[in-house]
Order: sequence, then structure tokens, then C-alpha cells
Amino acid sequence: MLPLPLPLFLLSLSAFVPRAACSVTVYGQQGVTTPSGLATSASATATTADWIAALAAYNDVTLTVPANPSPAPTAFAVSVANQASNVNGLSVAQAGDFFGFSIEMSVVQQVIGKNGSYLMVPFLNLLASVADRAGRVRVRVGGNTQEYATLVASLADNAIIEKDKENTSNPTNTPTLDFTTGLLYMMSNVSSLVAVKWYLGIPFNDTSNLRLQIAEAGDAILGDNILAYQVGNEPDLYAAHNHRASTYNQTDYIAEFDIMVNAINANSLITTKNNLVAPVFPEPGHWTPSSLSIVSVEHYPDNNCAAAYPNSGFGDPVDPQTVISNYLTHASGQSIVSPYLNGALEAAAAGKEFMMFETNTASCGGFEGVSDAFVSALWAVDYGLQMAYSNFTGALIHVGGQDVSYNPFTPPPTNLSSFKEWTVGPTMYASVVLAEALGNTGTAQVIDLFANSANAYTPGYAIYENSALARIVLVNFMTEANGTGSYTATISVGGGETGEASSTPSSVKVKYLSAPTVVEKDNITWAGQTFGGRFQADGRLSGEESIATISCDTTAATCAIPVPGPGVAVVFLSSKAQSDADPTTTQTFATTVLTKTANTATIDPSVLATSNGMNGLDRAELGGTSQGGANAAAPSARSIPGLAVLCALAGAVWVLGGASGRR
Ligand SMILES: *[C@@H]1O[C@H](CO)[C@@H](O)[C@H](O)[C@H]1NC(C)=O
Ligand SMILES: *[C@@H]1O[C@H](CO)[C@@H](O)[C@H](O)[C@H]1NC(C)=O
Ligand SMILES: *[C@@H]1O[C@H](CO)[C@@H](O)[C@H](O)[C@H]1NC(C)=O
Ligand SMILES: *[C@@H]1O[C@H](CO)[C@@H](O)[C@H](O)[C@H]1NC(C)=O
Repeated sequence: MLPLPLPLFLLSLSAFVPRAACSVTVYGQQGVTTPSGLATSASATATTADWIAALAAYNDVTLTVPANPSPAPTAFAVSVANQASNVNGLSVAQAGDFFGFSIEMSVVQQVIGKNGSYLMVPFLNLLASVADRAGRVRVRVGGNTQEYATLVASLADNAIIEKDKENTSNPTNTPTLDFTTGLLYMMSNVSSLVAVKWYLGIPFNDTSNLRLQIAEAGDAILGDNILAYQVGNEPDLYAAHNHRASTYNQTDYIAEFDIMVNAINANSLITTKNNLVAPVFPEPGHWTPSSLSIVSVEHYPDNNCAAAYPNSGFGDPVDPQTVISNYLTHASGQSIVSPYLNGALEAAAAGKEFMMFETNTASCGGFEGVSDAFVSALWAVDYGLQMAYSNFTGALIHVGGQDVSYNPFTPPPTNLSSFKEWTVGPTMYASVVLAEALGNTGTAQVIDLFANSANAYTPGYAIYENSALARIVLVNFMTEANGTGSYTATISVGGGETGEASSTPSSVKVKYLSAPTVVEKDNITWAGQTFGGRFQADGRLSGEESIATISCDTTAATCAIPVPGPGVAVVFLSSKAQSDADPTTTQTFATTVLTKTANTATIDPSVLATSNGMNGLDRAELGGTSQGGANAAAPSARSIPGLAVLCALAGAVWVLGGASGRR
């Protein structure tokens, strides 16, 4: 089949992506963000608390817990084979770093640090909480800003990035961005402290005047801490953004991709030639450039554009109470992955990774009370395991500014007094849970158990490592009320239809992800430990770790696992399954800002953790600096006529040749 013209192709795709959402970041031109929740007329008399609560990242919205299904499931049996060889449909091998993070290039100074010698310690701690379990953590620095980013020799005041707002590049007012190698040194310094691997993007705005400097300097400074360079962020939106002619399609993209590849191959400063990310499916025997290592998609299951951009053609804002149930179901993750199943298989067949390069609960800022409540942790655990089962090889949770409610972590507002700290969102817990559920061997294979007759409130997954059953994950989307909402899953291992002998252990260890209700925003725990409530986090899990030991019925060869609602139970079927998932070390950094890391590649984290008290002078340095504050780089809401169109298009994936059923 000949390539479809782009609009036609997208039309055909839209049938499969009914509520595809925009992942367009919109930047304000002005310095100060008026939080959308705070009327301009009220801003004159607003208190600091009003300002903070009106910023979506710190909103006080708490929704009502949706009713449980009636009748609510209370008990069911789960029978699992012990050997991978007896299971059909296991995923490709997965690693514990499945969930990583996507950080818009323009907000790195709020989230990562000011420069190589001034790093945000809560960020290091948060990444360490994943890396300690998974062996490493993947972070993308990019987004729309990457397309126009330009490496310059220096910037005023030794800044590492600076927005050139005079030359905004497109209808979303994405600032063009100048950066220095200081950004790359900063990333390198982060990697010298925590096992962080990075993705960057090579500017793709003008392929007749390529700017490969980010890859030249990236390879020189970051070496193999760079995993890959993205070539074109959402090129499916180029025509809509007026970045290319309205006829721009995947064939045009491939031609430009080839220009890029040829230039990279001819460039001796770029030392790794085969680590590019593109949103086009390789097709065996047709277009499988050896330079492509990752096929990427970007998708949000919904959007909150009507609230983020009032009077811009999105209609009335959505009441978050009306959408919360959409996230309390196994169906959400299933419907997100369904258009991509064939693509993931093809990528695997071509030896490529297949990644969800940017995702979150809802684009245009998320839904207050949903994106920042426990519901989104449950959703992300189920969605993440669903992606893993569906042969995605990783997913990056998007980190925005203070105008969004979906952040896995947010620095404090600039002008808050210094004792208030970071806010850790529920999806951060999900990334830790996935790291433990998938373990650190890199051999995890995931199967959806379709537990309890595929009941949408009680999904379950089994995880095999080195071909043997290692862990079972049980999700409970309900909330205990009036004696309903909790369930017991009775597990038996082997001894079933597969002809295996029973291998149910005599006891299992269980860790729980818990909160009082699905709408809880502060009191979330993983195995009894918490990052702390809003404004309370320094990025470390604290509290006594609690791991339940559950004795099994050796006569019946079953283990009855209670799963309180709401929550997630991770069942470790052997002590090895647990040790393969436990943090190998617990690396923490105790100050708020880490300075003078230059020439300290051998820095001992345990020294750092004890040498500077929680209230050290370093902390005071934060006061008055532009650490992600209301006047900093946070994207701000502006009316963008036509954004509805962009939102409808995002999430598209290009298929070479527009071939049957592939997307
Ligand atoms: C914090 O910043 C906002 C927005 O710039 C301002 O209106 C408010 O007065 C500031 N609060 C303090 C305590 O400085
Ligand atoms: C790094 O950033 C800090 C905070 O803005 C600043 O004080 C320091 O001078 C910067 N260091 C360099 C080498 O520019
Ligand atoms: C850390 O950053 C500084 C520049 O701020 C750089 O000179 C130094 O080499 C970096 N360290 C590492 C390990 O990359
Ligand atoms: C994932 O890939 C494996 C191995 O190729 C395949 O057997 C399985 O069916 C795929 N899973 C899905 C959900 O497509």
C-alpha cells in the first residue's frame, strides 16, 4: 500500500485513539504565571497560601471516593504456572527501570540543578530510589524545546540555559532555547552520583542546516551515559504547528531522518552512530535503518485542555469527579496500549526497543484530585505493567512545571520559606513499585493474569525472572467502605493445567502500596515507607519498612493474599525474588543543594548523607533563587486557538507505508 497522505493517515488512526490527547507544552511569554485557579482580580489580595494552592502542582482539590461496584469482588483464586515455558504470551525481557522520567528541557534548572556544581538533592534522592532497586534510571531531557535548542559558547551570568522569547518558534510559543555545555556537565555530574542514563534530542527544525552539536558534545561529555538521541519530537504534529508544509508526511520525515543519519555518520565527533529514537515503525526488509535503536510513541489517555486553555474551543472544563473512575480500572491501560500491540511486536522483530517516550494521566496539566491522588499511583502500576506485558520496553513519566498536577515530583514554589520542600506525586511511588516488581536481573517477563475473570477492579500480573515465577502483583482499585472493597486472592503455583507439580511455597513475603482512599494526596506508603506529604519531601523514603509474611496452606497448596482497598500487593514467591528486587544499597543525599561536585567523581554518598544536617546553610541558598517558582520557567496557560486540533493529533504513530492495521 502506498503511503497515505498524512491527514488521511491520521484520520484512520483517530478511530483507534478516541480520546488522544495533546502533549503540547505551552509557554507563557511573561515572567509571572497567574495560576489558572486564581482570578486575576483576586491576585492583588491573595496570600502566599492562595498563590500556592492555586498552582496546579499544589492544589487542595480532594474528590469524593467513587462507589465500589456492586457486588464488590471479595475473593477469587489465581492459578499460576511456576515455569515460563508453561506460559503463553509472556512479554519480552524487561528491566526494573521500566518507568523513567521525561523532563522538558526548559525546566531543567528547576528540577535538576543550576549547573554541574549546584544540583537539586531531592532530585538525586528520588532518582536513587529507583536506581537502587533497578540498577539504573532513565531520564529524558527534551520535548518541544529540543527542536530549536542551540548550543552556545556561554550565556550571561554563567547560566546553562536561557530562553530566547523574542524568537518563539511556533503556535505554542515554545521558547527557542540556548544552552551551554554546562547542561551536559550537570547531567554528567548527576550520573557520577546516581546511575542515571539519559536521552536527548537533536534539533530537527531545519535539516538543511543541521545542528549536531548536542550530539557531538553529548558524546564527548556524557559518553555511554547517553542512551539515545531523539530525532524529531512529534513530527506528526509538524504540519499542524506550521513547522513544515501542510502535506508533510512520514515519507518526508524518513527522507529528513536519512539526511540526519548521513550527517551523523560523516561526523567524527559523534562517536555512537546507532542510537537514534524515531516515531516510525521499522518494517523488516524495507526501512530498518541500523541507526534506529528505539521506536517511540507519546500518549496521554485524556486531556484537560478545556481547563488549561479557557475559551479556546475546548468547551466546558471537565469536572475531575466525572473522570476519576476512568483511572480506577484495568481497562485504562489496556485501551492505551491496544493501538500499539502490533507495532511493539514489529519493533521487537526488527531488534528495536519500543518506548512510550512521554506519558501521564492527562495532557494539558492533568486533573486536579486525580493526577495527584492515590488513584494515579494505582493506575500507573497497572498501566506500567500492562505496557510491560504488551512489549513496550520502557515508559517515561512526564515532568512539567508548577501549572500541572501530574508531576511525579515538583520543587517548592520559589518564594516559600525554606522549610517547605518538594512535593512527591503518586506516580513516583508507581515507579518504585515497578522497579521492585520487575527486579534487577533484566530478565523479567510479564503476563496479565486476567485475574478474577478479568474483573477490571482487581487486575493481577505474574512476573517471571530467569524463566521462573518470581513475583505476583495484585491491584485493588476499590476503597474499603461498609465492609466491601477488600479482597483475598488465593494463589496456587504450578499443579494446574500445565502439568507442573505444585510448587506453592510454605510462606510468601508481601509488600503493600497503600493509602486510606483513592483520593488521598498526602498519606501514601510503600511497604510502610513514605516520601512524605506535599511540601515535605526531600526525595528519600522514610519510616520503618514493613514486609508482611503470609503463611500458606501447605495441605491445599494455596496462599491467601489479602489485598486491602485501595492498594497494590507485590507478592515475593521466594527470598531470591525479594533480594533481586530489594535496593542493593540505599543511597541518599541529605542536603537540599549539592555544591562543588566538580572533581568529586568518587564522592561517597554515605559521607554526603551524614556530613550536612537537614538544616544546613546550603538550604538557605534556596531562598530567593528561581527554583521553579511562579516567575520561572513553568509552562503557563495561554489561549491557543486551534490547540484542539493539535490535541486530537498527538499520540499518532507513523507507520511506514500506512500499512494495514499497523500503528
Ligand atoms: C510569592 O510570589 C507571588 C507571585 O510572584 C507574589 O504575589 C507573592 O506576594 C509572593 N509571596 C511572598 C511571600 O513573597
Ligand atoms: C552554579 O549555580 C549557583 C547557583 O545559581 C551559582 O552560585 C554558582 O556560581 C554557579 N556555578 C558556576 C560554576 O557557574
Ligand atoms: C561537573 O561539572 C563541572 C562544571 O560545572 C565540570 O567541570 C566537571 O567536570 C563535572 N564533573 C563531571 C564528573 O562530569
Ligand atoms: C509480546 O511479545 C511476545 C514475544 O514476541 C509475544 O509472544 C506476545 O504475544 C507479545 N504480547 C502481546 C500482548 O502482544
